[in-house]
Amino acid sequence: MLLVKPTINLRKEYMDYYNEWKNTGEASIPWLVETVPPHDFEYMIKTLNEFENGLHIPIKWLPSNSTYWAVDESNKIISVVNIRHKLTQKLFDFGGHIGYGICPSQRGKGLSKEVFNLSLKKANDLGIDEVLAVCHDNNIASRRTLISCGGLEDSYRIDENKNVLRRFWFIKGGNEFDSFERQIQS
Ligand SMILES: CC(C)(COP(=O)(O)OP(=O)(O)OC[C@H]1O[C@@H](n2cnc3c(N)ncnc32)[C@H](O)[C@@H]1OP(=O)(O)O)[C@@H](O)C(=O)NCCC(=O)NCCS
Repeated sequence: MLLVKPTINLRKEYMDYYNEWKNTGEASIPWLVETVPPHDFEYMIKTLNEFENGLHIPIKWLPSNSTYWAVDESNKIISVVNIRHKLTQKLFDFGGHIGYGICPSQRGKGLSKEVFNLSLKKANDLGIDEVLAVCHDNNIASRRTLISCGGLEDSYRIDENKNVLRRFWFIKGGNEFDSFERQIQS
């Protein structure tokens, strides 16, 4: 599996991924998939490129962010990954640097760890040395993935809908935690 940038060359594969997820009725994660839908494919690719450069982002609190597609050896898209380049207060509390989802038909096969580790490497390559990932307390598969990828748990948060959000840090070059409760970097 590898992460590739969104490309027009994988239009059919992306539409398969998008429609499969859509047909389940499940909310898209990362929700950027719905914020920038593929109805005009070239426009979607252009827009995602702009987001990477911090341009024309329609959501006030969202910083520049990079989207990747995790593809297998047959070019099937297994996952869409969105990496936020820095944390706003909202992301620090509830979202983290990495948002991703595994397409429904590919779940339960142990692929999330591979996708998450590739995403972590990308985040490091983008210069993020301390990566935060957040999951809902009741999202057991997500939580187990973060734990088995070596996440160090920080304090939890409760959002406006009373959901408990568990927060895990991944420190580049070792998992030495100098102070447990991280502060948002300005
Ligand atoms: C969360 C998600 C990425 C997990 O992917 P997955 O392919 O289902 O998970 P995997 O098969 O790789 O399993 C990961 C771990 O969760 C466990 N797991 C998987 N499905 C589970 C389930 N239904 N109940 C309990 N544990 C489960 C696995 O045993 C494994 O744990 P282990 O590493 O301790 O053995 C996937 O369910 C998903 O895309 N959900 C919707 C979007 C989302 O929640 N994204 C993450 C938040 S940013």
